Amino acid sequence: MAGRIPQPFIDEIVSRSDIVEIIGARVPLKKSGREYKACCPFHSEKSPSFWVSPEKQFYHCFGCGAHGTVVGFLMQYEKLGFPDAVADLAERAGLELPREAQASRDPGGADLHEVMARASRFYEQNLADSERGRQYLQARGIDAPTGAKFCLGYAPDSWNALLNRFGAQDEDRRRLLQAGLIIERNSREGSRTPGFYDRFRDRLMFPIRDSRGRVLAFGGRVIDEGEPKYLNSPETPLFHKGRELYGLYEARQARTDFKRLMIVEGYMDVVRLHQSGITYAVATLGTATTQEHLNKIFRITSELVFCFDGDRAGRQAAWRALENALPLARDGRELKFLFLPEGHDPDTLVAAEGATAFENRLKTAVPLSEYLLQQLLPQVDLGSVDGRAKLKALAQPLFARMPEGVYRELLAERLAAEIRMPTGKLKELLFAAGAPKRHGAQNPEPAPRRHGRMSIGRGNLLTQAITLVLHHPAAARAVKEPETLGRVDRPGVSVLRDLLEQAVAVAQPSTAVLLERWRDRAEYGRLAELAMAEPLVADAQAAAQELQMAVEKLLEEYGPGRRMDELLRKAEELGLNYEEKAELSLLLKSKGRP
Ligand code: UTP
Ligand code: MN
Repeated sequence: MAGRIPQPFIDEIVSRSDIVEIIGARVPLKKSGREYKACCPFHSEKSPSFWVSPEKQFYHCFGCGAHGTVVGFLMQYEKLGFPDAVADLAERAGLELPREAQASRDPGGADLHEVMARASRFYEQNLADSERGRQYLQARGIDAPTGAKFCLGYAPDSWNALLNRFGAQDEDRRRLLQAGLIIERNSREGSRTPGFYDRFRDRLMFPIRDSRGRVLAFGGRVIDEGEPKYLNSPETPLFHKGRELYGLYEARQARTDFKRLMIVEGYMDVVRLHQSGITYAVATLGTATTQEHLNKIFRITSELVFCFDGDRAGRQAAWRALENALPLARDGRELKFLFLPEGHDPDTLVAAEGATAFENRLKTAVPLSEYLLQQLLPQVDLGSVDGRAKLKALAQPLFARMPEGVYRELLAERLAAEIRMPTGKLKELLFAAGAPKRHGAQNPEPAPRRHGRMSIGRGNLLTQAITLVLHHPAAARAVKEPETLGRVDRPGVSVLRDLLEQAVAVAQPSTAVLLERWRDRAEYGRLAELAMAEPLVADAQAAAQELQMAVEKLLEEYGPGRRMDELLRKAEELGLNYEEKAELSLLLKSKGRP
């Protein structure tokens, strides 16, 4: 699914993102000179050796060697693939992933979006025209503005209303089918020609929209009684149930700076809560909350409340939610559980008691850590050895799912206090072998020490030039005739040429923007090392001068002039063979150019 994301877009994302902000939201950073430091999130340490440079937009740990750009950080920290890390940053920056990338993520995407948009308008229009639909909505207490805000619609009580409207050609029907709006009739029984019929009939329609408001799918509720109560679109190239959240688009329309989001169970709950002013409610689509959902949510807010019905099904769903949420539980994030009184769902409760009373209940929401203990402790008899062993057995897989960090430590301490066991001992038991380490030895060899990095990038002229471009990409503009480097005969000079070219081509070049362009190339590791080397010069102006000089010197030392001198000398002393003569005459011809 890794669609190709166009390079200029990656450039833009990297230059628009602030690595200090992105990392700072996850790791407590302290300013130190021109950089920021912290205890490394990728290995455990007592004193900080993790550095973030706002100038270079680059991070580096001198302890474990972890390093990278903002994209690399998200990949490493959030365990995201490259496209997802970029998508994440794009979403933050309010940029749309370009079509090229979208299309390859969702084959046939553009077409299907159009089909879904038309179908949604069709259902909306039908609701406006349908006495039955409007009456139902009214009976459910949903007013017209709220219906319009959610683009609610009505699928007519017909086998082919949608089909007749949009399915004139074979091609149209193929797309309706692909969009999950019609169903193919079982053709074996009698009918010779393949037939189709509308999937949604006589239902109140809830369009499910993506973060840009495009309709991806529908949920349809029966009017009156019937099975299933809610019918959802099938998985299509546009729609993956476990990824989308109903109401998220509408919530973001209402406001962009959330204090929190709240996950409820049903479509109707979301609509009703929004109507009463609780516009931070979203729902999964009849599935458990997935990691993908949670990642989406934590991009937007750091507080999440799971809201469940007070019945047994609600409690079961809550435990599943807890298990899925554990890997994302960490400092700075609040995960809470709210249980409603038996016999109520958010829809009926907010109707009964109003928004203020409902929101007051949020104060009684139980933090995830508390809920976990509440669930575990009653299951065991702490007075007995067996009981403690059982508790350990229950807790270990849960702790194993959590990232290392303060959050997990505190929870272990709480648990230790509950069972009156020394924290150290419990931790030993819980985090013993078997608990997967969050960050393996990705960089086994010891990294250079902070003061040892002076040596990098000195010495060799070419390395110096490359380091200068990496540290001060803007200086590349100062280089006159960079193409002359084409005549420098030196391994690695093409790296310098490419870097210079890239630095000039990009609108706002930074170290990170350049490095991102090398992610998949063999030289990436070496370039990253040079990127974090001690600066060779104090500022961009000095860098520009140095860089120009370095390029000139490279030409002088390894350019055609030097080869020409060499050949001329050899001609005098030893004489030239046939090939050397040819080379010299070529060089002499090109003389006059610098
Ligand atoms: P509920 O059965 O709890 O219904 O389903 P509800 O939300 O209270 O609906 P109303 O108030 O009777 O209209 C909760 C959610 O579970 C999914 C839907 O997403 C629904 O909103 N669900 C439920 C289905 O996908 N299919 C079903 O048949 C039932
Ligand atoms: Mn309900």
